[in-house]
Amino acid sequence: GMKLIIDTDPGVDDAFAIALAALSEDVRLLGVTTVFGNVPLENTTANALRVLQLCGRPDVPVAAGAARPLVHPQLARAGHVHGADGLSGRSASLPAPQREPEPGGAVRLLVSLLEAADEPVTIAPIGPLTNIALLLAAHPHVKPKIGRIVLMGGGVARGNSTATAEFNIWSDPEAARRVLVDEDVPCVMVPLDLTHRCAVSTAWLNELAQSPIGAALTALTPDYLASYRRSLGWDGIVLHDAVAVAEAINPGILRTEPYPIEVDCTFGPGRGTTLVDRRLPGMRGEGDGAVAPKTVQVAVDTDVAGLGEFVLG
Ligand code: BDR
Ligand code: CA
Repeated sequence: GMKLIIDTDPGVDDAFAIALAALSEDVRLLGVTTVFGNVPLENTTANALRVLQLCGRPDVPVAAGAARPLVHPQLARAGHVHGADGLSGRSASLPAPQREPEPGGAVRLLVSLLEAADEPVTIAPIGPLTNIALLLAAHPHVKPKIGRIVLMGGGVARGNSTATAEFNIWSDPEAARRVLVDEDVPCVMVPLDLTHRCAVSTAWLNELAQSPIGAALTALTPDYLASYRRSLGWDGIVLHDAVAVAEAINPGILRTEPYPIEVDCTFGPGRGTTLVDRRLPGMRGEGDGAVAPKTVQVAVDTDVAGLGEFVLG
């Protein structure tokens, strides 16, 4: 099956996304790397190990990466959304992990997994892009081993951390710019606009809870549900990261369109915004001998019901 590495900051929706990949028969989950984000790195690493243990996958190596952003020391946190421990205060309800994080850290694990790969590997970053930026900057020789980077982040016409900035990008805009704009690796960006359209109801969660692993995941959602109930206006949650991982393991389940992107790295009100250039062809200054900018495949649409079925498995 296809080869996948997940870079993550669990996080309730991260936990669902990890489980989706860890339980999929079509995927070889080579490793999981962790980053600061929703909660501090110690929590995200412990949570990733526990979710893999829940899924009966203590064979998957886990390594801890960046504890803070590349440039600006200001840390965004989302404990008010995911709970103080990142899993609605319920992380201790998951089985204790049987393995320790890899001693060399996230970037070293990424390099060794990619070097050893004999076919292209998909990387699914579902947290701030710090580890991936460090990897590409310091170890460019592994770039040909990366088939696609399928990331959850950004927005076309909305934000959540600020009016226009999405949490993962806002948490480390310089890292996001490195990955989305500066590096010549194929990227698929799954923005908030689409993940919100894929929100799931409590009826969907109840169906998931029919299986023991599904029940354990559903038990992690109370704080998250309370937060999304306020923002959606109905009883549901947005499993942002599971939407991106669904595309990583089932290429084409999301419809994408190629657009050039900029990431706002200024220290003004737009910091962390993804500027998706949807100007009509011919209006981007083409034809002046300008070098065509990199385009990112932006996920714009999906069969929402079909995606829900796919994630239910
Ligand atoms: C993203 O931010 C985090 O809170 C979620 O896990 C997701 O990766 C959504 O903006
Ligand atoms: Ca996340």
